Amino acid sequence: MKVIHDEPLERAGVRRAFVPTMGALHDGHRALMREARNLVGPRGEVVVSIFVNPTQFAAGEDFDSYPRDLARDVRVCDEEGVDVVYAPSAQGVYGSEQGSRITIDPGPLGQLWEGAHRPGHFAGVLTVVSILLHQVDPNVAVFGEKDYQQLELVRRMCRDLSYGVEIVGMPTVREVDGLALSSRNVNLDPDQRRLASAVPRALEAAQQAATGGVEAALAAVDTVLAEARLVADYRALCASDLGPTPERGTARLLVAVPVGRTRLIDNCTVDLGGDDVR
Ligand code: PAJ
Repeated sequence: MKVIHDEPLERAGVRRAFVPTMGALHDGHRALMREARNLVGPRGEVVVSIFVNPTQFAAGEDFDSYPRDLARDVRVCDEEGVDVVYAPSAQGVYGSEQGSRITIDPGPLGQLWEGAHRPGHFAGVLTVVSILLHQVDPNVAVFGEKDYQQLELVRRMCRDLSYGVEIVGMPTVREVDGLALSSRNVNLDPDQRRLASAVPRALEAAQQAATGGVEAALAAVDTVLAEARLVADYRALCASDLGPTPERGTARLLVAVPVGRTRLIDNCTVDLGGDDVR
């Protein structure tokens, strides 16, 4: 396995799969690396980037305290049979410490939900993903459904701007109690960690209530969270492509819930009933 920093990646002579990350790697990231290997086969090349991207953090967010341990992350990648770890500096990505001056506009869907709570976040995400895709030049890139709005915005960017890369989404990897794995879970103290399991329980309750319609599904989320004295930043039902909420059939439920100073985000599909079920 090769670890490179700001030196350019060699051109791929074989199919190349790419997994962009911010490090602090956990089993969710490992699942993406395994799928990347699956997609290109043993002769293909799997590239993982590790870069805590300053431009997707707003002032006052946790950029400085975001967990960083490159040596450990490199070991994880090695265990997963990754071919290249790309761990650039901000200079290597942006050419300056200030961030690139031309940015990607995520459009109206980037203003909703996570975008409304974190102004500028998706412009930062799409800009860095865009740069990394050009630097790594993969055939396919793998993202987690854990960050569902991010996944769908990346898909749209690559489609709308003709990037010619295939985007593959992978299901969320969870703890035994259902909590979605996240690099930020280490910030939860034991009491908060117990409360956090209300988030996946709220999603399950919504799935069960959803045949009663959109309002019933959202009310189920609120009830489960309220029992844990938690209040969502948002909980929203949208179409699988982030479009307007369908009245029937499959929809996506997106939630963000602060637990102490940690914001948990999660999502799932829900079946709103009716004939339109896929
Ligand atoms: P990061 O939070 O490190 O996540 C990297 C990738 O892992 C993302 O595609 C994310 O959705 C996926 N992931 C995180 N937790 C997961 C889980 N529990 N199960 C499955 N996949 C999971 O997302 C980012 O970094 C950044 O925004 C990035 C795309 C790298 C741009 O900076």
